[in-house]
Formats: sequence, structure tokens, C-alpha cells
Amino acid sequence: MRPIEKSARLQSLPRYLFAELERKRHEAESAGREVFDLSIGDPDLPTPDFILDKIAEYGRDPRNHRYPTSAGNREARARIAAWFAERFQVSLDPVREMAMLLGSKEGIGHLPLAILNPGDEALVPDPGYPVYAAGTAFAGASPVRFPLRETTGFVPDPPDLDKLVTPRTRLLFVNYPNNPTGATAPRAFYEELVAWAVRRDLIIVSDAAYSELYYSEAPQSILSIPGARDRSIEFHSFSKTFNMTGWRIGFAAGAPALIEALVQFKANVDSGAPQAIQLAAAEGLKSLPVHGPALRGVYRERRDLVLDTLRALGCPIRTPGGAFYLWGRAPEKETSMEFVTRVFEKTGVLLTPGTGFGAEGEGYFRIALTSSADSLRRALQKLETLTPWKAPHASPSPIIR
Ligand SMILES: Cc1ncc(COP(=O)(O)O)c(C=O)c1O
Repeated sequence: MRPIEKSARLQSLPRYLFAELERKRHEAESAGREVFDLSIGDPDLPTPDFILDKIAEYGRDPRNHRYPTSAGNREARARIAAWFAERFQVSLDPVREMAMLLGSKEGIGHLPLAILNPGDEALVPDPGYPVYAAGTAFAGASPVRFPLRETTGFVPDPPDLDKLVTPRTRLLFVNYPNNPTGATAPRAFYEELVAWAVRRDLIIVSDAAYSELYYSEAPQSILSIPGARDRSIEFHSFSKTFNMTGWRIGFAAGAPALIEALVQFKANVDSGAPQAIQLAAAEGLKSLPVHGPALRGVYRERRDLVLDTLRALGCPIRTPGGAFYLWGRAPEKETSMEFVTRVFEKTGVLLTPGTGFGAEGEGYFRIALTSSADSLRRALQKLETLTPWKAPHASPSPIIR
């Protein structure tokens, strides 16, 4: 038998960083070491009872035992459209402008396969969620990375993007609140971006997976910006909003042509999300006015706890405006990977090296606030024993404070 090899496209991808970190963690755990894993953004909090009860209720209805449609349950989409109108002041046609997903990652990863051709180019943020580049590469298209810099609040300047646009550029990914930097983007940024995309005739893919995790102003939908509606698709997730990462449920909203292409692609590779989960998650949105502030309060407390300690240790770190990540600077003279490896080996605290999100992440590390305040405190005590940042640095720039 010929040796079984991975496809060239699969081999062309960097190894998925989180899998690498998982391996390090398992190795240490099997050796009996205590590990404080702050590397993965997977909420420790349980899915709220108001959703679990509904999953049980809808799960008992035999209509929900049959194949779902690829676009999703109509009632679930109608409920989401009602929430979207109230939350973002955008009135969506739940049939033509919305599709349910098996988590937003599924839609983000599949969209390029539905709309890009070999030779096309997609602008992807660096640092950024790795799926934008991976999905683009699977489609035979090329990811072209644009830098997110601290000096501009980790928000790109559209004229800077001009330098990267070629006749082959088809689309651009943006993600606010941002993973990994925690940055948020003001409405003025979206307005400028949409005007730029119109001039360049490009599609905008907005990843809004963290739209309900914010610390001051509620993030906007790009679909509320005039001119965006017919060239944008926005990805939403129930994973972070309702601690539902394990249930795999999200949705896409936007231009009918983009939704139609995505749904047609999905019809060929999956058979939709379980209907009981779609219905329960969509119904859960009614509880957001109470659940949302409580959830944000938990992350705010954790955020402030970690920020205070890291700053006392001399770590330059910005106050994030959203998402549940902190993006700090590694000590000078050490690469991200060297720093993260040293911290892990000496303390058992697992951070994510900034380079896991692209070359522009060099010099940074990410902390996920998805452990209890107690676990975070214990991890911070370990870091204090290491005192990795020798002299206190100057305070970080105040753009997203
Ligand atoms: C920026 C961003 N987008 C999308 C996702 C995917 O979330 P899910 O597939 O659970 O909806 C994640 C998950 O970590 C993320 O960080």
C-alpha cells in the first residue's frame, strides 16, 4: 500500500498552535505536575439553566430528532432576527439573510470555500484568529496578512490596507471585539472601512463572536453601517455569550448572495445544527438583558485582578475593551515562545505565545480569562515567584483603556 499522506493544502498550514499547547499540557499532567492553563478561551462557567432546560424540552419533541436544514430552523432564525433588530437596530430577513451554523468557526472556515477561487486573495488580520487564513488556504486562495499594531489600538487604517490590495483581492476579515488583543473598534472605523470596501469593491467578513463580551460600549454590527449590507457577512456565536462552546451553535447574517453560497456549500458537507440546540439558544437571547451584565461582571472582575498583578510585576499590558483575553508584552530579549516555554517550565502556568496568531504577535503573550478568580489568583502567585519582568516598564498607550 502506498503511504497515506496529508494533502498538500493541509501540509501547507502551520500546525494548529492550540493542539501543540494541549500536548505540552498533557505531558506535564501525566508527569504529575500541577498545570494552570490560561491558554485556551473556553469558558469555565456552565451553560445557564434557562438554556439547558429548553434544550431538554425541545429535545423531547420528535420533530427535532430529524435532519435539520442546512440554513437552520426557521423559528430559531426568526427569534434571532427579533433580537438582532433590538440589539443592533438591523432588521434582517431570517430566510434570505441568515443561516445557522455549527459554531461560528464552522461558517468562518467554510465561507472561503463557498466564494473564493484558486488565485484569489483574502486580507487577514495579523495577529488574528487562525481560521481566517486556514479557510482561505483550503480554498486554494492566498491569505495576505495585514498588521494590527498597538500604536493604532490594534485597528487597521484603511489607507494602509490599500498597499496590500491587488486585482485578485476579494475580501477582508475583521474581528472586534478582537481575539487575541481584546481591542474593540468604534463605529467610525466601520464607517471608514465600509467606504473603503465600496471603493475597492471588496467583501467584508466581520467576526462578531465576542459581540456580547464588552467592558464599556456595546459593539455595533457592521450590517448597521450604510453601504455594508450587500457586501458583508457577520459571524455570531452563542459559545461565549452563553458558555456554550461544547454545544456548537452560531449563526451568520448578511448579504443574501453570501448566505446563499455558504448554505449551498454546507448542504454538501454537513446537515445542519441540532434543532433543539438552535431553538434553545435562540430563545435564550431573551434572557440577555439579565444574563449579559452578570457575565460581563465576572470577566471584568477577572480582568482587573490579572491586570493589577501583571502591572505590579512590570508587565506592559493594555486594558482590553472586550472579549475575554489580555494581550501583554513578553519581557524584552525573549521571544514569545521562549517566554511562554520558560514560564510553563518554571511555574506550570500555560500562556499562549503571541506568534500563535501570526508574525505580528511576536513579543506578546495572551491570557484567557476563562478560569475562576481563585485559579487565576493561584496562577498569578506562581508568576510572582518568577518575577519575569525585571524593571517596571513605562505605562502602555491609553488607546483602549
Ligand atoms: C475570534 C473568534 N471567532 C470565532 C471563534 C469560534 O467560536 P465558535 O465556533 O465556538 O462559535 C472563536 C473561538 O475561539 C474566536 O476566538
